[in-house]
Amino acid sequence: MTKITIAIDGYSSTGKSTVAKQLADYLGYVYVDSGAMYRAVTLFAMQNNIISKDHFDIVKLKESLPSIKLKFHKEVGWQKAHIFLNGKDVESKIRTLEVSEFVSPIATIYEVRLKLVAQQQLMGLEKGVVMDGRDIGTVVFPNAELKIFMNASAKERAQRRYKELLDRGDAVAFEDVLKNIEDRDYMDTTREDSPLVKAADAIEIDNSEMNLDDQFHTVLQLAKDRIAGRI
Ligand code: CDP
Repeated sequence: MTKITIAIDGYSSTGKSTVAKQLADYLGYVYVDSGAMYRAVTLFAMQNNIISKDHFDIVKLKESLPSIKLKFHKEVGWQKAHIFLNGKDVESKIRTLEVSEFVSPIATIYEVRLKLVAQQQLMGLEKGVVMDGRDIGTVVFPNAELKIFMNASAKERAQRRYKELLDRGDAVAFEDVLKNIEDRDYMDTTREDSPLVKAADAIEIDNSEMNLDDQFHTVLQLAKDRIAGRI
């Protein structure tokens, strides 16, 4: 069967990663979480005194980029590939609210995007890939055969992320999670380089009222129709 490229973009915590992963598993495609790459660079910046609450050393970040090596690797028994930063599995560390608070400023930097987009494009060379993020249908794979744009109300998204963080055992306040989502929505949509915007040919799905099953079947149907050339 022909393999296609599927780009799933949208706001924070819209369930993009969940549906992208389900779709990739079902179709036997590779799943790439592009947000994990921006989060890993952010973790590096936090660990190397590049970004904190009161400073952001952009020059040092740019100089450090060649020494930041990112890799996805999956072991038998893992549900999904983990991201490795300079050889270390940081999959869990990159999901904290603290990383979420610094990631959008890091993602505005042109040189960071240049490096990560090039790596993402390489991963998609052979098609058969589902990638989720903010600029996948617009910048990374503008020719993707299927583009989905996911949305849901900010309150609903904050509720979902709050639950995820509590389930992980992170002590966070709902108001802080909501504020982070609103701040990132703002920064991601207003940045100069590759802002979050729905590609002209993307299909928008608002999943505020959908459960995971409905969402998966809606997207799967679109993928099957696209692969069969019906849409
Ligand atoms: O999981 P969540 O939806 O909260 O976010 P994510 O996909 O892990 O992405 C984290 C942040 O990385 C976003 O808020 C963006 O600032 C940035 N990002 C980006 O700029 N471009 C992408 N393709 C993916 C993420």
